[in-house]
Amino acid sequence: MTTFSLISSQIKDVSFGERVKVVEPCNLYGCALGDDVFVGPFVEIQSNVTIGERTKVQSHSFVCSLVSIGENCFIGHGVMFINDTFASGRPAGGEKSKWKTTVIGNNVSIGSGATILPVTICDDAVIGAGAVVTKSITFPGVYVGNPAKILIKENAQ
Ligand SMILES: CC(C)(COP(=O)(O)OP(=O)(O)OC[C@H]1O[C@@H](n2cnc3c(N)ncnc32)[C@H](O)[C@@H]1OP(=O)(O)O)[C@@H](O)C(=O)NCCC(=O)NCCS
Repeated sequence: MTTFSLISSQIKDVSFGERVKVVEPCNLYGCALGDDVFVGPFVEIQSNVTIGERTKVQSHSFVCSLVSIGENCFIGHGVMFINDTFASGRPAGGEKSKWKTTVIGNNVSIGSGATILPVTICDDAVIGAGAVVTKSITFPGVYVGNPAKILIKENAQ
């Protein structure tokens, strides 16, 4: 006879600001969501994540532990954050000391299907759909591709 464990998605130990909207099903735990945050369906947000006021996280995105997202950001559909880079040649497993942080500034828009490795992204950056961001972004602009490169500098003539 086969056996299995069925574990329900949950919303546990979450700090909510005012007027936060969450669409089920979602798996949210140990995170902090600021005022007017929106979280679409099929999103997981793990512990030690903070999301700033008015930021939207669209459906099917994964926000892993140690990610901080600023205010007024748009996280598109199916955006994947990464905290374990397999630095020692394999997943870190439970060794949290090997996990790395990601910091997203304010007014950052991230297109659908983008993957964000542990980096810092400055305020006002735009990340194209499907981009893979492998290095920190320090100048506002539009970044696309794998690895992500600048397409348009903000305020370029
Ligand atoms: C990156 C983005 C903002 C650029 O928009 P834009 O400035 O209007 O750019 P254009 O459509 O004029 O394209 C400019 C060039 O970049 C390329 N390009 C555009 N988006 C790209 C992307 N995501 N990845 C790789 N290349 C891209 C185009 O093919 C074009 O290349 P070319 O000059 O060789 O022809 C946009 O294409 C994008 O990816 N937006 C994300 C939208 C999204 O995910 N929304 C989620 C809610 S539905």
